[in-house]
This record gives sequence, structure tokens and C-alpha cells, in this order.
Amino acid sequence: MNSAIIKGTGHYTPEHILTNADLEKIVDTSDEWIQTRTGIQERRVLNGHNDIGLSGMATNAARDAIDDAGLEPKDIEAVIMATVTPDYRLPATATLVQHNLGIGRVALMDIVAACTGFLYGLSVSRAFITCGMYKNVLVIGGEHLTSITNYEDRTTCVLFGDGAGAAVVSRGEPSDNGRGILATYLAGDGQYKDLLHIPLGGSKNPFTNDNAHLPGRHVHMDGREIFKLAVKEMADAAEHVLEQAGCKPSDIDMVIPHQANHRIIEALRRRLNVPEDRVYSNIQSYGNTSSASVPIALDEARRTGVVKEGSLVLSTAFGGGLVWGSALYRL
Ligand code: ACO
Repeated sequence: MNSAIIKGTGHYTPEHILTNADLEKIVDTSDEWIQTRTGIQERRVLNGHNDIGLSGMATNAARDAIDDAGLEPKDIEAVIMATVTPDYRLPATATLVQHNLGIGRVALMDIVAACTGFLYGLSVSRAFITCGMYKNVLVIGGEHLTSITNYEDRTTCVLFGDGAGAAVVSRGEPSDNGRGILATYLAGDGQYKDLLHIPLGGSKNPFTNDNAHLPGRHVHMDGREIFKLAVKEMADAAEHVLEQAGCKPSDIDMVIPHQANHRIIEALRRRLNVPEDRVYSNIQSYGNTSSASVPIALDEARRTGVVKEGSLVLSTAFGGGLVWGSALYRL
């Protein structure tokens, strides 16, 4: 079987910074509450709908990942875009990225798996490559979350930020020995669909003149319930891939988890029993960027030398659906 290796990564976040002090002026909250309960200090946000949009952020992240892999856009044979905030309901954002970068007429698809979207994309890319269908697949996780955030709801608006991250997953060579995506695990359960959802704007409850201004057009979330499920399912998912690959938590060089809340990350760390310096977190700078959070963190960790070729990395994520999953990979 072919191996599938992460050959290059990239990320992009908007220049504009929304700080906790800015949010104190908008809703009844405080820097102290946000930092203590979430670990977030600031987040990057697009400057409204006239900015470069999700496709612009995804294009920038993807360009860097292709360059980092030492490839050209023409080498990419499939684009997998994970997002819950596409520029349009139709067409898929993958088509916009393909066109922006001058990638050929290849397989283009969007995946809707919320914060787990990048790991779903990674798993699909691995399947494409190991079965011999493609050699180079571009996987992007990106979100314009502030476009679905209600800035009158303090329980959600302090959490979210915008950004995109990308990886090129390629067929490994014999000389890459030991590198590659070693195991993935994907799961979900629709019984929890109302814990995190956008009630309006889909085909079941479309926008009308009467409802388009209502809060139902934004994200609704039962944060407390999600918190409990997130810790359990992320940790269980992590254990699944370790078992599949025959590894132990002590083998892991770095855990790069979904960045939703520093307390979730800390609870996960304790469950896995890994030391603090083996868990990567950048939530303080970006907040929760959903499907973008793992690839942004992975690219940052690679570019700053926190992880390097040969590092064994575990990523695990959890999000609306609910869906969750994990991946174990040697860089
Ligand atoms: N500022 C001040 N007070 C606040 C704020 C705020 N921004 N938000 C809530 N509070 C208040 C609440 O009203 C409540 O007050 P009360 O006790 O008087 O009723 C109190 O703080 C505690 O509220 P909780 O909801 O219990 O706070 P908790 O410690 O659970 O933290 C949080 C809330 C941060 C949302 C946490 O539950 C969490 O991170 N949950 C997981 C979120 C997540 O991971 N979502 C999934 C991914 S998102 C996606 O898929 C797009």
C-alpha cells in the first residue's frame, strides 16, 4: 500500500485583530472572564463581506502549502475544502480555490464536518493516495466564522475567529521511510444536532423577508454540554488512532488538537497523560477557527520548529453535528 505523507503546509489569517477589550465594548463580558474560561486573548477577523472572503483566505493558505511542498498548482490532482462557512451555497469553495490558483480540471469537493473538517479531509486524501488514485491532494480547512456569529450573544461571540490552513498530502517514496499518516479515525452522532447549529437559511427553513434578521441566522450553541462531550470523544478518538498504529501516548512528540478552549485542551492532555510541553496551543491568538484550527496550528508548529521531519503528531477535533475524529502522522 502507498503511504500518504504531509509534504507541505500553509496558513493565512486576516490582519484585523479583535481583542477582548474590543468585545468588552460590544457585549457584557470581560477580558478576565474570556481568558479564564477560554484562554482566548484575541482573534483575527475579516473586515466584513467585502474582504477576500473564505476563498481568498483558503487560496493564500493553499498557495503557501503547495510552495512548501516544492510543487506547482498543476501538480495537484484533487482539492478537498473543509468548511461550514462557504462563500456561496453553490458552487463549492474548492472550485473557487482551484480557479484562483490555476490548478487543473481536477476533483473538487467541499466537506461539512465543522471543527473536525480538516481531519475528515486528511482521512479522505489518505484514502485517495493509498489506493493509488492520486499522487498529490490539497486539503484545506478554512472558516469565515465571524459571518455566522451573533455579536449580541456573549456566550458565542467571544469564541470565534477567521482563518485558513492547508496541507499537501502526497504519495510517499521508499526514502520517506516511516513518514506518513499512520492512522485516522472519524465518527459522529446526529442525535446531538441541536447542540450546535444554525437554525435558519438552509432549504428546510429558508430565509424569508420575515426571518432574515432574526438570531436564527447565526450559530446557536449549548457550550456546557458540548464541553463535556468534546473532552470524552476527542480523548477516545485519540486512543483509537494510537491503538490502530500500535503506539502509546508516550511515543507522541506533539499533540496538535482542535483549538476550542484551553480548558478542553488541558482536560484532553490530562486524559492522555502527556506533559504540557507536548501539547500545542495557539488559542490565545486566534480563538476557535473551527476547521482551520488544526492546520493553522500544524503549519505554525512546523514553521517555528516546534515539530520537524520525523515528529510523531496526534491531532484530534470535535465540532457541530456532532462529529469528531483524530489522525496520527509522522511528519
Ligand atoms: N462573558 C461573561 N459571562 C459569560 C459569558 C461571557 N462572554 N458567556 C457566558 N457567560 C456567563 C453565563 O451566562 C453563565 O452565567 P450564569 O452562571 O449567571 O448563568 C456563566 O458565565 C457560566 O456559563 P457557562 O456556559 O457555564 O460557562 P462555561 O464555563 O461552560 O464556558 C464556554 C462557556 C466557553 C462556551 C464553554 O462551555 C466551551 O468552550 N464550550 C465548548 C465550545 C465548543 O467547543 N464548541 C464546539 C466547536 S464550535 C464549532 O463547531 C463552529
